[in-house]
Amino acid sequence: MANPNIPTPHITAKEGDFARTVLMPGDPLRSKFIAETYLENPVLVNNTRGVQGYTGTYKGKRVSVMASGMGMPSMGIYSYELFNYYDVQNIIRVGTAGGIGDNVKVRDVVFGMSAYTNSNFGRQYGFDGNVAPCCSFPLLEQAVAAARKMGSEPNVGERYYTDIFYDEAGGAGKLKKLGVLATEMEAAALYLNAARAGKKALAICTISDHLFTGEALSAEARQTTFTQMMEIALEIA
Ligand code: HPA
Repeated sequence: MANPNIPTPHITAKEGDFARTVLMPGDPLRSKFIAETYLENPVLVNNTRGVQGYTGTYKGKRVSVMASGMGMPSMGIYSYELFNYYDVQNIIRVGTAGGIGDNVKVRDVVFGMSAYTNSNFGRQYGFDGNVAPCCSFPLLEQAVAAARKMGSEPNVGERYYTDIFYDEAGGAGKLKKLGVLATEMEAAALYLNAARAGKKALAICTISDHLFTGEALSAEARQTTFTQMMEIALEIA
């Protein structure tokens, strides 16, 4: 019987259009770039609201890539629908993050193990305390192994997921004291949706700017420094 939840309010792909693993950059144009650069025979399976999603193959493996948009509400919607309605098993976020720790610099790849957040996304589960979004250990283990095979020792650790890019409170100093490596705006919602759906998620990000050193990549350099992150994500897809 056809799945009554498909198409969803935000995705018009057909049942079976997505692979088991979906890579999720924030930007729809990066989704197109990844599909055209890395996938063989990419087919556009979603373009609702310009949120481009493609399915193709990488080294013979079926893989999808679709944008998440920016922020946890947007990531929350797309990852929920992919996990719960399209039967996607793994979502790997591939994006940029702002560096916080002294031990990370621009261009480094950082794997987000656990997620500090100022978002209320986890309140929906009614847990009387703070839920703790965390990545999938099997995906993290595979990603670490893939990075080492490529000759680099990855940065793995805490990241901070914020709802506020232009944050007047400027809390990054407090986070640095707690050992947080980097900040971005999507994966806490992704990790919680994965936990609730019994699926797997991991965020692999490249540091595009550093909150304390002021170092930043140009828009052009952002495009070209993603190779390592992409190769790790595709290897474990
Ligand atoms: N803050 C939040 N998200 C980000 C940043 C940042 O400085 N850089 C890249 N993603």
